[in-house]
Amino acid sequence: MRIVKKKVLVTRRLPDEALRLLDDTCEVELNPYDRVMTRDELIEGIRDKEGILCLLTDTITAEVMDAAVHLKVISNYAVGFDNVDVKAATGRGIVVTNTPGVLTETSADLTWALLMATARRIVEADAFMRNGKYTGWGPMMLLGGDVYGKTLGLVGMGRIGCAVARRAAGFNMRVLYYDVNRLSEDEEKALNLEYSGFDELLKEADFVSLHVPLLPSTRHLVGARELSLMKPTSYLINTSRGPVVDEKALVEALRSGKIAGAGLDVYENEPEMAPGLPELENVVLLPHIASASVETRTKMGIMAAQNLIAGLRGELPPNCVNPEVVSGPGC
Ligand code: GLV
Ligand code: GLV
Repeated sequence: MRIVKKKVLVTRRLPDEALRLLDDTCEVELNPYDRVMTRDELIEGIRDKEGILCLLTDTITAEVMDAAVHLKVISNYAVGFDNVDVKAATGRGIVVTNTPGVLTETSADLTWALLMATARRIVEADAFMRNGKYTGWGPMMLLGGDVYGKTLGLVGMGRIGCAVARRAAGFNMRVLYYDVNRLSEDEEKALNLEYSGFDELLKEADFVSLHVPLLPSTRHLVGARELSLMKPTSYLINTSRGPVVDEKALVEALRSGKIAGAGLDVYENEPEMAPGLPELENVVLLPHIASASVETRTKMGIMAAQNLIAGLRGELPPNCVNPEVVSGPGC
C-alpha cells in the first residue's frame, strides 16, 4: 500500500535535521529563496497544504488560513507567536504550536552579552581598534558603566526572565522583577529576587531588561513616561519583541541623555529601525539573534517538526498554544 504523505509548507530553510524529520513523514515544499515569503507567495504556497512550519517573520492572518481549506497545523519556529492570529486559528480548528524551553538558556546568554556590550562599550571599542584609533592606553578612554554590584530590573519573569536572573548571581547584583504574575516566595528566594512595582523598578534599576511576550497589554509598555522614570545612568535592554518599546520615544531618550544607553535585539518595525537610531553611539544594535546558536536553532527545528507531525496525526502536539482545538473546550 502506498502511504500518502501529508503536504506541508516550510517557509524558510531550517537546520538539516529538522527537514530530514519532516521529509520522512511529509511531502515538503520549501521556500526556495533565502528571504521572507511575500504575502502572495504564502497564500499561493499554503493553498493545498495541511500544515505549515513558519517563522516569526511570517504574518499568519485569517486571510492566509482561509486560503488553505485543508490546513490543520501552524507550527511556529519561535517561542513568541504574536505573528499568528491564534484566535482566528482556534475558530477554524487549526492547531498552533511554538518552541518553548529549548531557547531559554541561549536567549539568556545573549541578553547578558548585549547587556555587557552596552555597559562596557564593546562594539565601539572594537571599531576603535579596527579604525586605527588606539594610540596607547588612556585613563579616560571609553569609560562605561559597571555591571557587578548594580541593580538589575527584569520585566517579565517567565522562563527567559528566570534564566537571566540566575546569571545575575555571578555579578553580585540586586535583582528586582515585575510581572503580572508574582512568583511563589520559594521561587523568589531561590533566585534572590525582589518583587517590585513597575514604576519603582524603572526608578531603581541600573539595567532594565525586558522579557515579556508581545500582547495588546505589553505594546509600548516602555514609552516616554517610563523612560523618563529611569535614571540618567541606566540602560535599557530589549531581547523580547520590538513593539514592547516605543522606539521613537527611545531614540529621543537616548539623544537627550534621559538614559545612558540601550541594547536592542528587536525592533518595532523589523527589519526597519526608527529614524536616528543607527546614528546614536550609546546603543548596541543586534539583528534579532537571541536564539541564534547552532545547537538551539537545531533543537527548535526538531521541536517545530515534531509539533507539526503530531498535529497532522490528530494528536495533541507537545507545545500547543491552543489545546482546546484538540481536546475540546473545558478540558
Ligand atoms: C524569537 O524571537 C522567538 O520568539 O523564538
Ligand atoms: C520564554 O521562553 C519565556 O517564557 O520567557
